[in-house]
Amino acid sequence: MPNIAVVGMGNWGMNLVRVYNQLESLYIGCDMDPNKIHFMRNHYHNVKFTDSFSEILNDRKVDGIVISTPSPTHYELARKAMLADKAVYIEKPMTLDSGEAEDLVALAENKRLPLMVGHLLRYHPAVHKIKELIEKNELGDIYYIYSQRTNLGTIRKDENALWSFAPHDISVILYLLGSEIDTVSARGGAYLQKDVEDVVFLNIQYKDKTMANLQLSWLDPYKERKFTIVGSKKMVTFDDMQHTEKIRICDKGVHKEPGYVSYGDSLTLRFGDINIPKIDITEPLKLECQHFLECIDKNKEPDTSGRDGVKVVKILEKAQTSMQQNGHPVKVSL
Ligand SMILES: NC(=O)c1ccc[n+]([C@@H]2O[C@H](COP(=O)([O-])OP(=O)(O)OC[C@H]3O[C@@H](n4cnc5c(N)ncnc54)[C@H](O)[C@@H]3O)[C@@H](O)[C@H]2O)c1
Repeated sequence: MPNIAVVGMGNWGMNLVRVYNQLESLYIGCDMDPNKIHFMRNHYHNVKFTDSFSEILNDRKVDGIVISTPSPTHYELARKAMLADKAVYIEKPMTLDSGEAEDLVALAENKRLPLMVGHLLRYHPAVHKIKELIEKNELGDIYYIYSQRTNLGTIRKDENALWSFAPHDISVILYLLGSEIDTVSARGGAYLQKDVEDVVFLNIQYKDKTMANLQLSWLDPYKERKFTIVGSKKMVTFDDMQHTEKIRICDKGVHKEPGYVSYGDSLTLRFGDINIPKIDITEPLKLECQHFLECIDKNKEPDTSGRDGVKVVKILEKAQTSMQQNGHPVKVSL
């Protein structure tokens, strides 16, 4: 089993520590905050902890470094880790600049090291189920997708709600619909801190007219984690706040009858059955961590590779530009 170092043991890093420990791969934890180290030492007695990133770089027993520090630090830490010949996992967003993300991809290729980005939902069994439905053409042509990722908190100051939340939804949309995006447009509102948008509405327009719309907010009365996919044959919802019954496949649609004179008369609404498929309820984070371990073991490219990370960062950059131009559509080339 590869030896993992988790760097950054804050709110999210604690989960990575927990899961790698369950998988018996947690070798060392690192944080610059002594209080975090003290807390972790009290919980994990057989694991080493350090406040020194260099100690991890110089430790030949470390095979992979998991970076869960604030996003402005991702690039430098990942670069140093790969220069020390370690496989790297970076939490989302991969970087705050697509040029830096591309640099990391080139370095990983040059060093032949696995570089993985923490696009967690790509490891969610429900997302795999939706992909399967699309591939089997059970939904027909996909007209549009919308996602809702809202909550009250966690309010960040280093990045806005777009950069904090959208990587999850964008990575799923790219997986389901592909990369042939024409434009993005986004509008946001900064109510709590100057120039840090708390709420963002992002619209992604595909070249074939398929559309995706993302609602992102940490200033909302309700926690929602939901996707709705509307196809020409069927419609699907994926509600991650449900413990069971996360996916509902609705046999609903509008059939266009050929040969009618009046357009209104030619449309027939269909309200069919709602099917709730059984899906695996394994924690997606566990599946994600297992995948990183497998990529290190077999030295293979992760499903959420550095290249996927670059695409997501490029879309975020264009969306940010659009937001600064009051929602003007901005061309995307991935
Ligand atoms: N995949 C997900 O669902 C998910 C959810 C939440 C956060 N995240 C991501 O995880 C990352 C961390 O977020 P968080 O909420 O845990 O942040 P946080 O601020 O709670 O924790 C960050 C930790 O990193 C430490 N740190 C900062 N710089 C360091 C350095 N150079 N060396 C060692 N330690 C350092 C800090 O002391 C802190 O303990 C971010 O990239 C965030 O976007 C992912």
